[in-house]
Amino acid sequence: MDTFSCIAARKSVRDFSDKPLGDAEIEKLIEAALYAPVGMKAYDSLHLTCVTDEKALAAIRGMARKKTGDENADPLHGAPALIVVSVKEPTHVAFANSACMIENMLLEAAELGLGSLYVCGIVNALREDAEFLALLRIPAGFTPVGAAAAGYAKEGAPAPAPCRNKVTKVDYIR
Ligand SMILES: Cc1cc2nc3c(=O)[nH]c(=O)nc-3n(C[C@H](O)[C@H](O)[C@H](O)COP(=O)(O)O)c2cc1C
Repeated sequence: MDTFSCIAARKSVRDFSDKPLGDAEIEKLIEAALYAPVGMKAYDSLHLTCVTDEKALAAIRGMARKKTGDENADPLHGAPALIVVSVKEPTHVAFANSACMIENMLLEAAELGLGSLYVCGIVNALREDAEFLALLRIPAGFTPVGAAAAGYAKEGAPAPAPCRNKVTKVDYIR
């Protein structure tokens, strides 16, 4: 797929099948994250945690349910893989770095024919939760700030709407 087709094909998926991703697919997503631009080349200010263990994913779901009080909550929407980005200091640049990594993974997921979702809400809600940090073995001094969930969209799930933004205004200074 050419770059623009890939950008246009990416859409948030919120109904994943439980079909696991292969190691090659996971590695492609990680590689995509590692090709992202990073401010001041501060590569050691970022950390990735790739969660594919079903028990760990179920534990995250459980923590989300406890945190939100919603016993049906699944902020990962059944995704079989979650790649969490943590930063050393949650600065403006660090958030931008994490977003670049996450978007690269979402685009690579589109290239691979996978569904994906930018997951921020629950990561933010649990970012100081000792159980969450321990489960993900987040290195001391790092804070999780966002994640990419990826997997196969469930068969028969409604196709996500085309995601071209028609609201944001664009000025051309010519
Ligand atoms: C920084 C950021 C955080 C997001 N966090 C979440 C999230 O926690 N949960 C979720 O379901 N979607 C999340 N999204 C996905 C947006 O809701 C989604 O991109 C938006 O609705 C547009 O739809 P599209 O991705 O299909 O274009 C996030 C997106 C971004 C860029």
